[in-house]
Amino acid sequence: MTTKTQAILIAGAGGFIGGHLVKHFLSEGHSAIRAVDIKPIDEWYQAFPEADNRVRDLTERNACYEVMEGIGQVYNLAADMGGMGFIEAHKCDCMLSVLINTHLLMAARDCRPDRFMFSSSACVYAAEKQVSPDVTALREEDAYPAMAEDGYGWEKLFSERMCRHFMEDYGLETRVPRFHNVYGPNGTFDGGREKAPAAICRKVIQAKLSGKHEIEIWGDGEQTRSFMYIDDCLKGSRMIMESDVREPLNLGSDELVTINRLVDIVEDIAGIKLKRKYKTDAPTGVRGRNSDNARIKQLLGWAPSISLEWGLERTYRWIYDQMGPSRSMIGQSYGIEVAQ
Ligand code: NAD
Ligand code: GDD
Repeated sequence: MTTKTQAILIAGAGGFIGGHLVKHFLSEGHSAIRAVDIKPIDEWYQAFPEADNRVRDLTERNACYEVMEGIGQVYNLAADMGGMGFIEAHKCDCMLSVLINTHLLMAARDCRPDRFMFSSSACVYAAEKQVSPDVTALREEDAYPAMAEDGYGWEKLFSERMCRHFMEDYGLETRVPRFHNVYGPNGTFDGGREKAPAAICRKVIQAKLSGKHEIEIWGDGEQTRSFMYIDDCLKGSRMIMESDVREPLNLGSDELVTINRLVDIVEDIAGIKLKRKYKTDAPTGVRGRNSDNARIKQLLGWAPSISLEWGLERTYRWIYDQMGPSRSMIGQSYGIEVAQ
């Protein structure tokens, strides 16, 4: 169990999940949060002056050793990643994130924090198990025999195994949640890295504000996913970190929806109906993906439960605030919140 004074390293703190995790620990009264990201601090989605904020490129071995000094727990959320539009077009960039986790593991092996968490992904699951919209929810063992998402998913699967072997060979206590598509406020919603929930909110808001009542949807809209709200992601990550579960564990919602249903929900929130145009040559990824939560329930007695309607309402409102009439233009980069 982490104490309020134990030093916690959050790698990728300038990003969506990392920023929320820093906020979460600070709000609980933790006094020694080291927040690290490659982006300049004014580009972090959330930045808190109470934290020890450092701008470092964690693909560099020396930087990993420097930020690891005196650390008790490590949350590695740093990766060069995004939604389907990004990972399908940047396979090398995604795979090069292997340097971040590898160098952080080496530094942890030598500096001996109590715990090390690597943020894996549902993209590790074998393609052949995800070919239908009414997909059978993925159990942890469905990652093997392996045929992960090309590029990004293979890096995640390899890094999972690195964690396992650093535990077996060096006694480092590693924890590995497999996040299924996470969404919420203070995340990426434009620029090319955004995932479906934020992208659809942005497109609906653009249609509402511009009066051009149509929307472009990638694929035929019948592909399925489950989406986990950020609060469930934070709670589950903490629980996995504090647990004695050493194997990779699904951390995702099991509320399966089509992308068309996702659009329905956002339209309802916006109070608008849009003409749908389907871009069938856009990147779509697997046909169906859902999280089987039997094991997390069995081992932790808990699973994500926040409904998609509830989470999207909050996400939509936040994106609207970034894009709405009070902001001058639509289509620029937003989302930076520097807390005072
Ligand atoms: P994000 O892109 O918002 O945050 C990642 C952060 O890592 C960014 O701020 C980025 O600048 C930083 N980073 C990238 N390269 C770096 C480097 N060389 N040195 C230091 N920092 C670097 O992504 P996120 O949604 O917050 O995801 C966090 C983690 O969870 C990632 O590992 C991601 O692969 C994983 N994950 C996320 C989701 C999701 O739906 N959000 C799903 C599965 C897995
Ligand atoms: N991004 C995006 N933007 N996706 C859209 C859009 C759009 O405007 N319209 C429809 N989609 C469809 C995509 O084509 C895909 O079929 C589905 O919505 C989900 O897309 P994403 O949210 O971008 O990604 P994903 O669910 O396939 O994979 C994501 O989740 C993994 C974990 O479950 C990615 O973010 C991975 O990086 C992540 O690890």
